[in-house]
Amino acid sequence: MKPRPFPLPSGRPSLVPSVLSADFTRLKASLAPVRRLADWVQVDVMDGRFVPNISFGPAITAAVAKASRLPVDAHLMVEEPGKFIGAFAEAGAGLITVHAEARGAAASLKAVKKLGLKAGLALRPGTPAAKLAPFMGLIDLALVMTVEPGFGGQGFMPEMLAKVFAVRELIVRSRRPVWLQVDGGINAETAVLAAGAGADSLVIGSALFGAPSPGRFLKRLKEKL
Ligand code: DX5
Repeated sequence: MKPRPFPLPSGRPSLVPSVLSADFTRLKASLAPVRRLADWVQVDVMDGRFVPNISFGPAITAAVAKASRLPVDAHLMVEEPGKFIGAFAEAGAGLITVHAEARGAAASLKAVKKLGLKAGLALRPGTPAAKLAPFMGLIDLALVMTVEPGFGGQGFMPEMLAKVFAVRELIVRSRRPVWLQVDGGINAETAVLAAGAGADSLVIGSALFGAPSPGRFLKRLKEKL
């Protein structure tokens, strides 16, 4: 499936629903209220090795791309991302994020770029911002995890705000259009903290799909930010 083009950083934070918390018994209906207010959608891919959970793969990614009609960001929380870049590109992901802690991260990023897609590099909470430095000339997105990857519904780790600030400095120094994305425990309050520290892409799962009206939640968050 041809990927939808991704927007470039514009100074306004992008809001990115994480499908991990969507209702998979009614995926299209679950995404409908947020489709017009979201900038793109994130598919949280887990292999049961890199993280102690298994979620979904290329087939669900293709379904999300079709159902949401939004650009798709595939966040690969997998041990060997290089094995799956082609499959997620085929499925319609326009941006593929690999973890700096995974095997072959550098080669995977190059493979993503070679396919003409946007490339993201993610850091677990324990990995310092400096790990991104060698890749700042290559990546289109830096992801600072604000929870330990593997599960939705966890509490935001405020100690990650200093790392968000440090990554923002790396991006400014790179003079390149790189999104600074945060993922984990983002809600109406922590979104403001993360944006204040320099994040301009907010992945939201349980706070969004658990809201009485996800559409109203996103609308209010947009106004707030
Ligand atoms: C962690 C998952 C979650 C998810 C967001 O591995 O990737 O961070 O995207 O979930 P919430 O918003 O519920 O923390």
